[in-house]
Amino acid sequence: MEFLKGFKPDLTGACELSKAGPCAFVIFGASGDLASRKLFPSIYKLIKAGSLGNNFFLVGVGRTQMDDDAFRALVERSIRENMDVPEELLRGLVSRCYYVHGKYEDDSVYKLLARRLGELSGKYSTRGNCVFSLALPPALYSIVAKMLAKNGLVKKNRGGEGESFSRIMFEKPFGTDLESARKLNAELLEIMDEEHIFRVDHYLGKNTVQNILVFRFANSIFEPIWNSRYIDHVQITVAEEGGVGHRAGYFEQAGMIRDMLQNHMFQLLTLVAMEQPKSLDAFDVNNGKLEVLKAVIRPSLKNISGSIIRGQYSDGISQGYRKESGVSEKSCTETFFASKFFVKNKRWKGVPFYLRSGKRMGAKFSRITVVFKGVEKCIFCVNGIDHTPNTLTFSIFPGQGLSIKFTAKVPGAKMCLAPLDMDFSYDRAFGSVDVDDYSTVILDCIIGDRTIFWRKDCIEQAWDILTPALLSWEKCPLEEKNSMLHFYPAGSMGPKEAEELIQKDGRQWI
Ligand code: BG6
Repeated sequence: MEFLKGFKPDLTGACELSKAGPCAFVIFGASGDLASRKLFPSIYKLIKAGSLGNNFFLVGVGRTQMDDDAFRALVERSIRENMDVPEELLRGLVSRCYYVHGKYEDDSVYKLLARRLGELSGKYSTRGNCVFSLALPPALYSIVAKMLAKNGLVKKNRGGEGESFSRIMFEKPFGTDLESARKLNAELLEIMDEEHIFRVDHYLGKNTVQNILVFRFANSIFEPIWNSRYIDHVQITVAEEGGVGHRAGYFEQAGMIRDMLQNHMFQLLTLVAMEQPKSLDAFDVNNGKLEVLKAVIRPSLKNISGSIIRGQYSDGISQGYRKESGVSEKSCTETFFASKFFVKNKRWKGVPFYLRSGKRMGAKFSRITVVFKGVEKCIFCVNGIDHTPNTLTFSIFPGQGLSIKFTAKVPGAKMCLAPLDMDFSYDRAFGSVDVDDYSTVILDCIIGDRTIFWRKDCIEQAWDILTPALLSWEKCPLEEKNSMLHFYPAGSMGPKEAEELIQKDGRQWI
């Protein structure tokens, strides 16, 4: 294990990004949104950082008819749209891009792909190593993986010492419920080994998210207070201003719970809640997460509104969800949720974890706030009123960093207290870092470091928590479904029921 994200920690202060070995990178869905918005720019950043050298090339596979030149123009455009780039580096990447066109179900596409990979592997000396990234709708994961296997592009028991490897990166959502995730896992494991299956969660590539374990376990001052004796509750919010854009087709099927809660939000929860793993090895870190997921108390179906509130944006600063293009005018898909979970173990006894996320909210921010209990018998309480509680916030967006809120005396003769923030910002402390979350995900997959990827049992546990609730909502007749959905005007911070969920416990969203 090199470190959580391919960075080699060096206590003298240098922190050099790992160099990937020889490898081809193949993107299925290369003419799609994810490839243009995230994958191409992140690959470029890795090249710029010196992590991807000469023994690298990129092949796009897609349904859009294009030749190599048109694909190169697409890659170039998407990188330029995202950042300023030196001409020479961009040319270096673009000249290594190739394209294979066809339908994903079509055997001839894989034959052609295998031939091109064979030729290019010789040209760029990539030794037959290959990462396939499936930037595709989840329904295609199994089909593409099976076709790759049928054409000898992925194999079981491959990638031992001295052998070439082939890995597949699967985007989320991985399955739509427990049963489908199990089925997909079983199908994949028939054709390849778990160690070559990389279930992506790009949140785990974010600096602040990786910092949670460092913060907790590399400092001696926090671990003693990281428990129900000192912590009152934890809040995790991922609020987005954007709507569904042109992803309505996907989003109508998924909804916010499948899109955010089952994956990114649960990962954040596990990092805050897990016990110290035996080591930073992927196996140990995932074991730690698994224990938390197993201990999460499943929402009671009898009183589901006591644990999960589902919302949908209506007309507000922009049109309501049901009027978005590609969305049914009777849609009951949730664009927001607020939820409360408990982790049943000694450390977290009675500590609620409040998680919420929504589209078209009043602000865009993502953060985790740990709220501490007040001081017992505090001599500074006035008329029994406590001062602002201590909080510790991991900020993921905007600006990655960390801040601690504490109480201090206001200067002057009178004893007045005020809450203060002590802030740490990644940019201020280390300068802006060029590699982003997807660069980390891609690099770790090429290196073969599985720490930041979902393991089979963890992803199934995450589905296990939510599946009964999801299925019970889906079974309801339309009218009932509608009555259980809480509307909020686009541009607000969610429905009032989300406020009530936390207010009932005498707390409020921060
Ligand atoms: C994706 C979801 O996984 O994460 C999107 O599918 C969401 O709906 C996105 O907008 C948020 O990611 P980030 O990195 O912008 O916070």
